[in-house]
Amino acid sequence: MITACRRGVEMLGIGSYAPERVMTNDELAARIDTSDEWIASRTGIRERRIASDAESAADLGTAAAARAIEMAGVDASELGLIVVATASPDYYFPATAALIGERLGAAGVPGYDLSAACTGFVFALAQAYGQVASGLTDTALVVGCEVFSRLLDWDDRSTCVLFGDGAGAVVLRGNGSKGGLLGFELGSNGQGGDLLKVAAAGHSRAPAVGPYVTMDGPQVYKFATTVSVESAARVLDAIGLTVDDVDVFVPHQANLRIIEHAARRLGIPAEKVVANVDRYGNTSAASIPICLDEAYRTGRIEPGDVVLMVGFGGGLSWGSCVMEWTIPLKERG
Ligand code: ACO
Repeated sequence: MITACRRGVEMLGIGSYAPERVMTNDELAARIDTSDEWIASRTGIRERRIASDAESAADLGTAAAARAIEMAGVDASELGLIVVATASPDYYFPATAALIGERLGAAGVPGYDLSAACTGFVFALAQAYGQVASGLTDTALVVGCEVFSRLLDWDDRSTCVLFGDGAGAVVLRGNGSKGGLLGFELGSNGQGGDLLKVAAAGHSRAPAVGPYVTMDGPQVYKFATTVSVESAARVLDAIGLTVDDVDVFVPHQANLRIIEHAARRLGIPAEKVVANVDRYGNTSAASIPICLDEAYRTGRIEPGDVVLMVGFGGGLSWGSCVMEWTIPLKERG
């Protein structure tokens, strides 16, 4: 699906949250057969955040959403939609979105979860864009939140070193004209479903043990390096921009080698690329909004900048979005 956005929907606020607990590569190396050198050289990851036993995806998502709502200067009761992208929801139901809405004071606001693994945030952004642009609602909250640490087999060195926990959120509102979100390119291909999955207890294909993440790393690597370049090129083409128009590139933070490969193939210089995978690992649906939030709050994104986001992950799935940054500098805080 490729769409050039025709109606103006912009970001009013953004926020993120990561658990306090930092787990370093050395800590992992003390427990399993791995090393800081192997993890850092193959992935760029140095450490990740891990939720406490008491913290869930809804807890992380609520903290990120509260920051986004505060920046947006809206009351939670003004929201008309809450979409939560997560592959590690608190429950099968109630939806994580309903839990987050209740804690924010958004009683009565419709909320639901969206499952598209690491592409989830871009899919959720497209969902919210559609509802706001069509007039179904004026103001929407989009959250990406994950507690992947609960889905990992901590004895499986090929997966447990890659992921971390965290959350990011944005508030969107229609602006009555144009601008803000400029275009999307989204896709899924279930043929690659077995390459990366969590077959969860309680689901209709429940395994005897787990749920744990399983992944064919080299095949997912091939997919990610190809699709991130192709999807980014397709969305830019659809909205009549080129890579030279891109001021900031915010790719999904799975692996620094994938990020650098995509930037090189697209022709985006290193100074325009945002990466924080070294400190968070892969936080799945939370990775792009955490990265966006950090980039904005540290002055890497300015109003008017053209921001290119690219996500990819389980499904297999992928999604790119181009937006013009609309949050003023004074909101940085
Ligand atoms: N420490 C030390 N050695 C390890 C580790 C580890 N943590 N993990 C694997 N190895 C070993 C393997 O056992 C293998 O050893 P062998 O040659 O003796 O058999 C060797 O390292 C090479 O293994 P590969 O899997 O071929 O390593 P590769 O270079 O492909 O790197 C990696 C693995 C980092 C996982 C890479 O394939 C990758 O990044 N893939 C993409 C992953 C990704 O993006 N996933 C997220 C998708 S988003 C989502 O939706 C969740």
